[in-house]
Amino acid sequence: MSIGIRGNGVGPEREGRDAQSASQCSPRGRTRLRAAILPNVTELAFPEGFLWGTATAGHQVEGDNDNSDWWEFENRPDSPCHEPSGSAIEHYKRYTSDIALLAKLGFNTYRFSVEWPRIEPSEGEFDVTQLDHYRRVVEAVRKAKLTPMVTLNHFTLPLWVAKQGGWLAPTTPALFERFTRKVVEALGDNVGWYCTINEPGMVALGGYMSGFIFPPGVTGLANWKQAISTLREAHRRARGVIKELRPAARVGQAHAMHEWEANAGGVPVMNYLRRMNEDLFLEESLEDDFVGVQTYTRMSVELPRLAGLAIGPALAVPALETRLAQHARHRQKSGPMAEELARSGVRLTQNGWEYRPRAVAAAVRRAAAMVPGKPIVVTEHGIATADDAERVSFIGEGLTALHAAIADGVPLVGYTHWSAFDNFEWGQGYQMQFGLIGVDRATQERTIKPSARMLGGIARANKMAVPSPQ
Ligand code: BGC
Repeated sequence: MSIGIRGNGVGPEREGRDAQSASQCSPRGRTRLRAAILPNVTELAFPEGFLWGTATAGHQVEGDNDNSDWWEFENRPDSPCHEPSGSAIEHYKRYTSDIALLAKLGFNTYRFSVEWPRIEPSEGEFDVTQLDHYRRVVEAVRKAKLTPMVTLNHFTLPLWVAKQGGWLAPTTPALFERFTRKVVEALGDNVGWYCTINEPGMVALGGYMSGFIFPPGVTGLANWKQAISTLREAHRRARGVIKELRPAARVGQAHAMHEWEANAGGVPVMNYLRRMNEDLFLEESLEDDFVGVQTYTRMSVELPRLAGLAIGPALAVPALETRLAQHARHRQKSGPMAEELARSGVRLTQNGWEYRPRAVAAAVRRAAAMVPGKPIVVTEHGIATADDAERVSFIGEGLTALHAAIADGVPLVGYTHWSAFDNFEWGQGYQMQFGLIGVDRATQERTIKPSARMLGGIARANKMAVPSPQ
Protein backbone atom coordinates (compact mmCIF):
# COMPACT_ATOMS: atom_id res chain seq x y z
CA MET A 1 0.00 0.00 0.00
CA SER A 2 1.44 3.36 -0.94
CA ILE A 3 0.23 6.62 0.44
CA GLY A 4 1.76 10.02 0.09
CA ILE A 5 1.82 13.36 1.79
CA ARG A 6 3.18 16.01 -0.51
CA GLY A 7 3.51 19.70 0.18
CA ASN A 8 3.37 21.89 -2.93
CA GLY A 9 2.45 25.35 -4.04
CA VAL A 10 -0.85 24.77 -5.74
CA GLY A 11 -3.52 22.08 -5.56
CA PRO A 12 -4.29 20.11 -8.74
CA GLU A 13 -6.41 21.88 -11.30
CA ARG A 14 -9.37 19.54 -10.86
CA GLU A 15 -9.40 20.04 -7.13
CA GLY A 16 -9.32 23.78 -7.68
CA ARG A 17 -12.42 23.56 -9.87
CA ASP A 18 -14.19 21.32 -7.40
CA ALA A 19 -13.29 23.59 -4.57
CA GLN A 20 -14.59 26.44 -6.65
CA SER A 21 -17.98 24.83 -7.09
CA ALA A 22 -17.94 23.93 -3.42
CA SER A 23 -17.20 27.54 -2.66
CA GLN A 24 -20.18 29.01 -4.38
CA CYS A 25 -22.64 28.24 -1.64
CA SER A 26 -21.33 30.15 1.34
CA PRO A 27 -18.64 32.44 2.67
CA ARG A 28 -17.19 29.44 4.51
CA GLY A 29 -16.80 27.69 1.14
CA ARG A 30 -15.03 30.70 -0.36
CA THR A 31 -12.46 30.57 2.40
CA ARG A 32 -11.76 26.97 1.44
CA LEU A 33 -11.16 27.95 -2.17
CA ARG A 34 -8.58 30.52 -1.17
CA ALA A 35 -6.82 27.88 0.87
CA ALA A 36 -6.76 25.54 -2.12
CA ILE A 37 -5.18 27.98 -4.55
CA LEU A 38 -2.76 29.75 -2.27
CA PRO A 39 0.72 28.45 -1.45
CA ASN A 40 1.28 26.17 1.50
CA VAL A 41 -1.20 23.61 0.44
CA THR A 42 -0.55 20.00 1.32
CA GLU A 43 -1.74 17.24 -0.92
CA LEU A 44 -2.92 14.09 0.84
CA ALA A 45 -2.73 11.10 -1.48
CA PHE A 46 -4.72 7.97 -0.71
CA PRO A 47 -3.58 4.39 -1.33
CA GLU A 48 -3.72 3.14 -4.87
CA GLY A 49 -7.00 1.41 -5.66
CA PHE A 50 -8.80 3.15 -2.78
CA LEU A 51 -12.56 2.57 -2.88
CA TRP A 52 -14.38 5.87 -3.04
CA GLY A 53 -18.11 5.65 -2.89
CA THR A 54 -21.44 6.53 -1.47
CA ALA A 55 -23.85 4.34 0.47
CA THR A 56 -27.61 3.84 0.51
CA ALA A 57 -29.99 1.28 2.02
CA GLY A 58 -32.95 -0.20 0.18
CA HIS A 59 -35.68 0.80 2.59
CA GLN A 60 -34.42 4.37 2.82
CA VAL A 61 -34.37 5.06 -0.91
CA GLU A 62 -36.30 2.49 -2.93
CA GLY A 63 -39.88 3.20 -1.87
CA ASP A 64 -42.90 1.00 -1.12
CA ASN A 65 -41.06 -1.66 0.84
CA ASP A 66 -44.40 -2.65 2.23
CA ASN A 67 -43.66 -6.21 3.21
CA SER A 68 -41.13 -5.23 5.85
CA ASP A 69 -41.24 -4.85 9.62
CA TRP A 70 -40.16 -1.21 9.29
CA TRP A 71 -43.08 -0.40 7.00
CA GLU A 72 -45.47 -1.87 9.55
CA PHE A 73 -43.69 0.02 12.38
CA GLU A 74 -43.87 3.36 10.54
CA ASN A 75 -47.54 2.94 9.72
CA ARG A 76 -48.82 1.94 13.17
CA PRO A 77 -51.30 4.44 14.56
CA ASP A 78 -49.05 4.93 17.60
CA SER A 79 -45.80 4.81 15.63
CA PRO A 80 -42.91 6.73 17.19
CA CYS A 81 -41.72 7.53 13.64
CA HIS A 82 -42.05 11.04 12.34
CA GLU A 83 -43.62 9.87 9.07
CA PRO A 84 -43.80 6.75 6.91
CA SER A 85 -41.29 6.02 4.15
CA GLY A 86 -43.91 5.88 1.36
CA SER A 87 -42.38 6.06 -2.07
CA ALA A 88 -39.05 7.24 -0.63
CA ILE A 89 -36.93 8.63 -3.46
CA GLU A 90 -38.06 6.00 -5.95
CA HIS A 91 -34.59 4.58 -6.32
CA TYR A 92 -36.19 1.23 -7.11
CA LYS A 93 -37.36 2.73 -10.41
CA ARG A 94 -34.65 5.31 -10.90
CA TYR A 95 -31.55 3.30 -10.07
CA THR A 96 -30.08 3.44 -13.58
CA SER A 97 -29.93 7.23 -13.74
CA ASP A 98 -28.99 7.49 -10.04
CA ILE A 99 -26.05 5.16 -10.51
CA ALA A 100 -24.95 6.92 -13.69
CA LEU A 101 -25.00 10.21 -11.78
CA LEU A 102 -22.76 8.81 -9.04
CA ALA A 103 -20.29 7.53 -11.61
CA LYS A 104 -20.26 10.89 -13.38
CA LEU A 105 -19.41 12.61 -10.12
CA GLY A 106 -16.18 10.63 -9.91
CA PHE A 107 -16.95 7.78 -7.50
CA ASN A 108 -15.70 4.24 -8.16
CA THR A 109 -17.84 2.30 -5.64
CA TYR A 110 -21.51 2.05 -4.72
CA ARG A 111 -22.70 0.43 -1.50
CA PHE A 112 -26.38 -0.50 -1.45
CA SER A 113 -28.59 -3.15 0.10
CA VAL A 114 -30.90 -5.84 -1.21
CA GLU A 115 -34.27 -6.07 0.52
CA TRP A 116 -35.05 -9.44 2.07
CA PRO A 117 -38.77 -8.50 2.42
CA ARG A 118 -39.04 -8.14 -1.36
CA ILE A 119 -36.99 -11.21 -2.22
CA GLU A 120 -38.69 -13.63 0.18
CA PRO A 121 -42.17 -12.16 0.70
CA SER A 122 -43.39 -15.30 2.45
CA GLU A 123 -41.50 -18.13 4.07
CA GLY A 124 -39.55 -20.17 1.55
CA GLU A 125 -41.02 -18.39 -1.51
CA PHE A 126 -38.35 -16.54 -3.39
CA ASP A 127 -39.52 -13.97 -5.89
CA VAL A 128 -37.39 -14.36 -9.01
CA THR A 129 -38.51 -11.02 -10.40
CA GLN A 130 -37.00 -9.33 -7.35
CA LEU A 131 -33.78 -11.32 -7.63
CA ASP A 132 -33.68 -10.24 -11.27
CA HIS A 133 -34.21 -6.65 -10.22
CA TYR A 134 -31.13 -6.70 -7.99
CA ARG A 135 -29.16 -8.55 -10.67
CA ARG A 136 -29.96 -5.64 -13.00
CA VAL A 137 -28.96 -3.12 -10.34
CA VAL A 138 -25.59 -4.82 -9.99
CA GLU A 139 -25.20 -4.84 -13.76
CA ALA A 140 -25.98 -1.13 -13.89
CA VAL A 141 -23.36 -0.51 -11.20
CA ARG A 142 -20.78 -2.47 -13.15
CA LYS A 143 -21.72 -0.84 -16.43
CA ALA A 144 -21.12 2.53 -14.79
CA LYS A 145 -17.65 1.22 -13.82
CA LEU A 146 -18.42 1.27 -10.12
CA THR A 147 -17.53 -1.54 -7.72
CA PRO A 148 -20.71 -2.92 -6.14
CA MET A 149 -20.68 -3.45 -2.38
CA VAL A 150 -23.83 -5.28 -1.38
CA THR A 151 -25.36 -5.22 2.10
CA LEU A 152 -27.54 -8.25 2.70
CA ASN A 153 -29.47 -6.84 5.65
CA HIS A 154 -29.83 -3.14 6.34
CA PHE A 155 -32.21 -3.04 9.33
CA THR A 156 -35.38 -4.40 7.66
CA LEU A 157 -36.81 -7.90 8.07
CA PRO A 158 -39.65 -9.51 6.13
CA LEU A 159 -42.77 -9.13 8.20
CA TRP A 160 -43.13 -12.90 8.50
CA VAL A 161 -39.62 -13.17 9.99
CA ALA A 162 -40.44 -10.37 12.42
CA LYS A 163 -43.64 -12.17 13.42
CA GLN A 164 -41.60 -15.25 14.26
CA GLY A 165 -39.53 -13.18 16.70
CA GLY A 166 -37.03 -11.42 14.42
CA TRP A 167 -33.54 -11.43 15.87
CA LEU A 168 -34.78 -13.11 19.03
CA ALA A 169 -35.88 -16.28 17.26
CA PRO A 170 -33.28 -19.06 17.17
CA THR A 171 -34.53 -19.94 13.67
CA THR A 172 -33.66 -16.57 12.10
CA PRO A 173 -29.95 -17.23 11.42
CA ALA A 174 -30.77 -20.30 9.31
CA LEU A 175 -33.41 -18.32 7.41
CA PHE A 176 -30.90 -15.55 6.81
CA GLU A 177 -28.39 -18.11 5.57
CA ARG A 178 -30.92 -19.52 3.08
CA PHE A 179 -31.79 -16.02 1.86
CA THR A 180 -28.08 -15.19 1.49
CA ARG A 181 -27.57 -18.31 -0.61
CA LYS A 182 -30.33 -17.23 -3.04
CA VAL A 183 -28.93 -13.73 -3.35
CA VAL A 184 -25.33 -14.78 -3.87
CA GLU A 185 -26.36 -17.38 -6.44
CA ALA A 186 -28.37 -14.73 -8.29
CA LEU A 187 -25.72 -12.04 -8.25
CA GLY A 188 -22.94 -14.40 -9.24
CA ASP A 189 -19.40 -13.24 -9.84
CA ASN A 190 -20.53 -9.67 -10.33
CA VAL A 191 -20.23 -8.87 -6.64
CA GLY A 192 -16.88 -8.97 -4.87
CA TRP A 193 -17.79 -7.16 -1.64
CA TYR A 194 -20.53 -8.20 0.79
CA CYS A 195 -21.56 -6.62 4.09
CA THR A 196 -23.68 -9.24 5.80
CA ILE A 197 -25.51 -7.20 8.44
CA ASN A 198 -25.58 -3.46 8.79
CA GLU A 199 -24.81 -2.24 12.32
CA PRO A 200 -25.78 -5.37 14.23
CA GLY A 201 -24.95 -3.59 17.49
CA MET A 202 -27.44 -0.85 16.73
CA VAL A 203 -30.12 -3.35 15.69
CA ALA A 204 -29.73 -5.24 18.97
CA LEU A 205 -29.71 -2.10 21.09
CA GLY A 206 -32.44 -0.21 19.26
CA GLY A 207 -34.85 -3.09 18.71
CA TYR A 208 -34.35 -5.29 21.72
CA MET A 209 -33.00 -3.17 24.56
CA SER A 210 -33.97 0.46 24.33
CA GLY A 211 -37.38 -0.30 22.84
CA PHE A 212 -37.55 3.12 21.35
CA ILE A 213 -36.73 3.67 17.72
CA PHE A 214 -36.49 0.25 16.15
CA PRO A 215 -38.98 -2.50 15.61
CA PRO A 216 -39.89 -4.67 17.39
CA GLY A 217 -39.32 -2.23 20.24
CA VAL A 218 -38.95 -4.75 23.04
CA THR A 219 -36.74 -4.12 26.04
CA GLY A 220 -34.71 -5.95 28.63
CA LEU A 221 -31.24 -7.25 29.18
CA ALA A 222 -32.13 -10.84 28.33
CA ASN A 223 -33.62 -9.81 24.99
CA TRP A 224 -30.62 -7.67 24.22
CA LYS A 225 -28.20 -10.52 24.91
CA GLN A 226 -30.29 -12.93 22.86
CA ALA A 227 -30.44 -10.55 19.88
CA ILE A 228 -26.67 -10.06 20.03
CA SER A 229 -26.06 -13.77 19.94
CA THR A 230 -28.58 -14.37 17.12
CA LEU A 231 -27.11 -11.58 15.01
CA ARG A 232 -23.61 -12.97 15.52
CA GLU A 233 -24.72 -16.41 14.45
CA ALA A 234 -26.54 -14.99 11.41
CA HIS A 235 -23.39 -13.20 10.34
CA ARG A 236 -21.28 -16.36 10.71
CA ARG A 237 -23.75 -18.40 8.67
CA ALA A 238 -24.00 -15.78 5.92
CA ARG A 239 -20.22 -15.51 5.74
CA GLY A 240 -19.99 -19.29 5.47
CA VAL A 241 -22.38 -19.51 2.57
CA ILE A 242 -20.80 -16.61 0.66
CA LYS A 243 -17.35 -18.18 1.03
CA GLU A 244 -18.72 -21.53 -0.08
CA LEU A 245 -20.31 -20.07 -3.23
CA ARG A 246 -17.82 -17.30 -4.06
CA PRO A 247 -14.55 -17.92 -2.26
CA ALA A 248 -13.00 -14.81 -3.78
CA ALA A 249 -15.70 -12.43 -2.53
CA ARG A 250 -14.72 -10.28 0.44
CA VAL A 251 -17.11 -10.57 3.37
CA GLY A 252 -17.45 -8.23 6.32
CA GLN A 253 -19.94 -6.60 8.65
CA ALA A 254 -20.73 -2.90 8.79
CA HIS A 255 -20.09 -2.05 12.44
CA ALA A 256 -21.70 0.91 14.19
CA MET A 257 -18.83 2.43 16.15
CA HIS A 258 -18.36 5.62 18.10
CA GLU A 259 -15.41 7.53 19.34
CA TRP A 260 -15.82 6.94 23.06
CA GLU A 261 -14.78 9.01 26.01
CA ALA A 262 -15.58 8.84 29.69
CA ASN A 263 -14.70 10.58 32.87
CA ALA A 264 -13.29 8.47 35.70
CA GLY A 265 -16.75 7.65 37.01
CA GLY A 266 -18.00 6.68 33.59
CA VAL A 267 -15.25 4.26 32.59
CA PRO A 268 -16.92 1.01 33.74
CA VAL A 269 -20.15 1.92 31.98
CA MET A 270 -18.33 2.99 28.84
CA ASN A 271 -16.44 -0.29 28.76
CA TYR A 272 -19.64 -2.25 29.21
CA LEU A 273 -21.57 -0.36 26.54
CA ARG A 274 -18.69 -0.50 24.10
CA ARG A 275 -18.34 -4.22 24.61
CA MET A 276 -22.06 -4.90 24.09
CA ASN A 277 -22.45 -2.54 21.13
CA GLU A 278 -19.18 -2.97 19.32
CA ASP A 279 -16.63 -5.46 20.63
CA LEU A 280 -18.86 -8.54 20.63
CA PHE A 281 -19.43 -7.99 16.90
CA LEU A 282 -15.86 -6.95 16.12
CA GLU A 283 -14.77 -10.30 17.56
CA GLU A 284 -16.67 -11.97 14.73
CA SER A 285 -14.69 -9.92 12.25
CA LEU A 286 -11.50 -11.76 13.21
CA GLU A 287 -12.65 -14.34 10.65
CA ASP A 288 -13.94 -11.81 8.08
CA ASP A 289 -12.14 -10.50 5.00
CA PHE A 290 -12.59 -6.84 5.91
CA VAL A 291 -14.00 -4.67 8.66
CA GLY A 292 -16.68 -2.10 7.86
CA VAL A 293 -16.68 0.89 10.21
CA GLN A 294 -19.54 3.40 10.42
CA THR A 295 -19.09 6.38 12.69
CA TYR A 296 -20.98 9.64 13.01
CA THR A 297 -20.12 11.11 16.37
CA ARG A 298 -18.57 10.78 19.79
CA MET A 299 -20.20 9.14 22.78
CA SER A 300 -19.35 10.62 26.16
CA VAL A 301 -20.10 8.74 29.34
CA GLU A 302 -19.82 11.09 32.25
CA LEU A 303 -20.98 9.88 35.60
CA PRO A 304 -20.21 10.68 39.18
CA ARG A 305 -17.53 8.27 40.31
CA LEU A 306 -19.68 6.39 42.79
CA ALA A 307 -22.56 6.03 40.36
CA GLY A 308 -20.12 4.78 37.75
CA LEU A 309 -18.80 2.10 40.05
CA ALA A 310 -22.32 1.11 41.05
CA ILE A 311 -23.50 0.88 37.46
CA GLY A 312 -20.47 -1.17 36.54
CA PRO A 313 -20.93 -4.18 34.34
CA ALA A 314 -22.89 -6.49 36.57
CA LEU A 315 -24.69 -4.08 38.86
CA ALA A 316 -27.64 -1.70 38.89
CA VAL A 317 -29.17 -2.87 35.64
CA PRO A 318 -32.18 -0.52 35.80
CA ALA A 319 -29.85 2.47 35.93
CA LEU A 320 -27.95 1.05 33.02
CA GLU A 321 -31.12 0.56 31.04
CA THR A 322 -32.00 4.20 31.60
CA ARG A 323 -28.61 5.17 30.32
CA LEU A 324 -29.07 3.00 27.26
CA ALA A 325 -32.46 4.44 26.49
CA GLN A 326 -30.75 7.82 26.53
CA HIS A 327 -28.08 6.46 24.26
CA ALA A 328 -30.73 5.33 21.78
CA ARG A 329 -32.60 8.61 22.05
CA HIS A 330 -29.32 10.35 21.37
CA ARG A 331 -29.89 9.11 17.83
CA GLN A 332 -33.12 11.14 17.77
CA LYS A 333 -33.24 14.87 17.36
CA SER A 334 -34.32 15.55 20.89
CA GLY A 335 -34.11 13.74 24.18
CA PRO A 336 -32.14 14.17 27.35
CA MET A 337 -28.74 13.58 25.84
CA ALA A 338 -29.15 16.03 22.94
CA GLU A 339 -30.51 18.60 25.40
CA GLU A 340 -27.61 17.93 27.74
CA LEU A 341 -25.14 18.43 24.89
CA ALA A 342 -26.86 21.60 23.70
CA ARG A 343 -26.79 23.01 27.24
CA SER A 344 -23.09 22.40 27.53
CA GLY A 345 -22.44 24.35 24.31
CA VAL A 346 -21.46 21.36 22.17
CA ARG A 347 -21.86 22.00 18.43
CA LEU A 348 -24.71 19.79 17.23
CA THR A 349 -25.73 18.53 13.81
CA GLN A 350 -29.26 18.71 12.41
CA ASN A 351 -30.25 15.57 14.32
CA GLY A 352 -28.71 16.53 17.64
CA TRP A 353 -25.44 14.61 17.48
CA GLU A 354 -22.14 16.21 18.39
CA TYR A 355 -20.37 17.59 15.31
CA ARG A 356 -17.28 15.43 15.41
CA PRO A 357 -16.00 14.56 11.92
CA ARG A 358 -12.78 12.98 13.16
CA ALA A 359 -14.59 10.51 15.40
CA VAL A 360 -14.40 8.16 12.43
CA ALA A 361 -10.61 8.04 12.60
CA ALA A 362 -10.70 7.15 16.30
CA ALA A 363 -13.10 4.31 15.50
CA VAL A 364 -11.00 3.09 12.60
CA ARG A 365 -7.89 3.06 14.79
CA ARG A 366 -9.71 1.04 17.43
CA ALA A 367 -11.02 -1.39 14.83
CA ALA A 368 -7.48 -1.83 13.53
CA ALA A 369 -6.26 -2.60 17.04
CA MET A 370 -9.05 -5.07 17.73
CA VAL A 371 -8.93 -6.87 14.40
CA PRO A 372 -5.27 -6.58 13.52
CA GLY A 373 -4.16 -6.72 9.92
CA LYS A 374 -7.62 -6.78 8.32
CA PRO A 375 -8.43 -4.29 5.59
CA ILE A 376 -10.87 -1.67 6.85
CA VAL A 377 -13.50 0.17 4.85
CA VAL A 378 -15.36 3.15 6.26
CA THR A 379 -18.75 1.95 5.09
CA GLU A 380 -20.56 5.01 6.49
CA HIS A 381 -19.59 8.49 7.66
CA GLY A 382 -21.72 11.54 7.16
CA ILE A 383 -23.65 14.40 8.63
CA ALA A 384 -27.25 15.55 8.73
CA THR A 385 -27.21 19.22 7.87
CA ALA A 386 -29.18 21.74 5.87
CA ASP A 387 -25.96 23.68 5.26
CA ASP A 388 -23.98 21.87 2.60
CA ALA A 389 -20.88 23.97 3.34
CA GLU A 390 -20.91 22.27 6.75
CA ARG A 391 -20.92 18.90 5.00
CA VAL A 392 -17.95 20.00 2.89
CA SER A 393 -16.02 20.83 6.07
CA PHE A 394 -17.16 17.63 7.77
CA ILE A 395 -15.88 15.50 4.89
CA GLY A 396 -12.59 17.40 4.69
CA GLU A 397 -11.93 17.08 8.42
CA GLY A 398 -12.93 13.42 8.48
CA LEU A 399 -10.75 12.49 5.52
CA THR A 400 -7.78 14.40 6.90
CA ALA A 401 -8.03 12.42 10.14
CA LEU A 402 -8.43 9.17 8.20
CA HIS A 403 -5.40 9.98 6.09
CA ALA A 404 -3.36 10.43 9.25
CA ALA A 405 -4.51 7.00 10.43
CA ILE A 406 -3.41 5.49 7.11
CA ALA A 407 -0.07 7.24 7.44
CA ASP A 408 0.26 5.56 10.85
CA GLY A 409 -0.23 2.16 9.26
CA VAL A 410 -3.97 1.56 9.56
CA PRO A 411 -4.96 -0.59 6.55
CA LEU A 412 -7.87 1.57 5.39
CA VAL A 413 -8.83 0.64 1.84
CA GLY A 414 -12.06 2.53 1.22
CA TYR A 415 -14.59 5.17 2.20
CA THR A 416 -18.28 5.15 1.23
CA HIS A 417 -20.04 8.29 2.36
CA TRP A 418 -23.48 8.27 3.95
CA SER A 419 -25.36 9.11 1.95
CA ALA A 420 -25.60 9.47 -1.80
CA PHE A 421 -29.04 11.12 -1.54
CA ASP A 422 -31.22 12.83 1.01
CA ASN A 423 -33.45 9.95 2.04
CA PHE A 424 -35.74 8.38 4.62
CA GLU A 425 -33.93 8.69 7.94
CA TRP A 426 -35.81 5.96 9.83
CA GLY A 427 -37.66 7.34 12.88
CA GLN A 428 -36.92 10.89 11.79
CA GLY A 429 -38.34 10.52 8.31
CA TYR A 430 -37.42 13.00 5.60
CA GLN A 431 -36.46 15.91 7.85
CA MET A 432 -32.79 14.99 7.95
CA GLN A 433 -30.48 15.88 5.09
CA PHE A 434 -27.63 13.38 4.93
CA GLY A 435 -27.30 13.49 1.14
CA LEU A 436 -24.59 14.63 -1.22
CA ILE A 437 -27.43 14.90 -3.69
CA GLY A 438 -30.69 16.60 -2.77
CA VAL A 439 -34.05 15.19 -3.81
CA ASP A 440 -37.28 17.09 -4.29
CA ARG A 441 -39.78 14.41 -3.33
CA ALA A 442 -42.64 16.13 -5.12
CA THR A 443 -40.90 15.91 -8.49
CA GLN A 444 -38.16 13.39 -7.61
CA GLU A 445 -35.69 15.79 -9.15
CA ARG A 446 -32.08 15.25 -8.05
CA THR A 447 -29.84 18.24 -7.28
CA ILE A 448 -26.11 17.82 -7.01
CA LYS A 449 -24.80 19.61 -3.94
CA PRO A 450 -21.32 21.14 -3.80
CA SER A 451 -20.27 18.43 -1.33
CA ALA A 452 -20.95 15.80 -4.01
CA ARG A 453 -18.64 17.58 -6.43
CA MET A 454 -16.04 18.05 -3.73
CA LEU A 455 -15.99 14.37 -2.69
CA GLY A 456 -16.34 13.15 -6.27
CA GLY A 457 -13.34 15.32 -7.20
CA ILE A 458 -11.28 13.79 -4.38
CA ALA A 459 -12.39 10.33 -5.50
CA ARG A 460 -11.35 10.97 -9.09
CA ALA A 461 -7.98 12.40 -8.10
CA ASN A 462 -7.47 9.92 -5.23
CA LYS A 463 -6.06 12.80 -3.24
CA MET A 464 -7.14 15.94 -1.53
CA ALA A 465 -5.60 19.33 -0.95
CA VAL A 466 -5.60 20.77 2.55
CA PRO A 467 -3.91 23.81 4.04
CA SER A 468 -0.43 22.89 5.28
CA PRO A 469 -0.02 22.82 9.03
CA GLN A 470 1.65 26.09 10.13
C1 BGC B 1 -27.44 3.61 9.35
C2 BGC B 1 -28.15 4.41 8.27
C3 BGC B 1 -28.62 5.72 8.87
C4 BGC B 1 -27.43 6.50 9.34
C5 BGC B 1 -27.74 7.88 9.90
C6 BGC B 1 -26.55 4.43 10.24
O1 BGC B 1 -26.72 4.00 11.52
O2 BGC B 1 -26.78 2.52 8.81
O3 BGC B 1 -29.19 3.64 7.77
O4 BGC B 1 -29.39 6.45 7.98
O5 BGC B 1 -26.80 5.77 10.36
O6 BGC B 1 -28.50 7.76 11.04
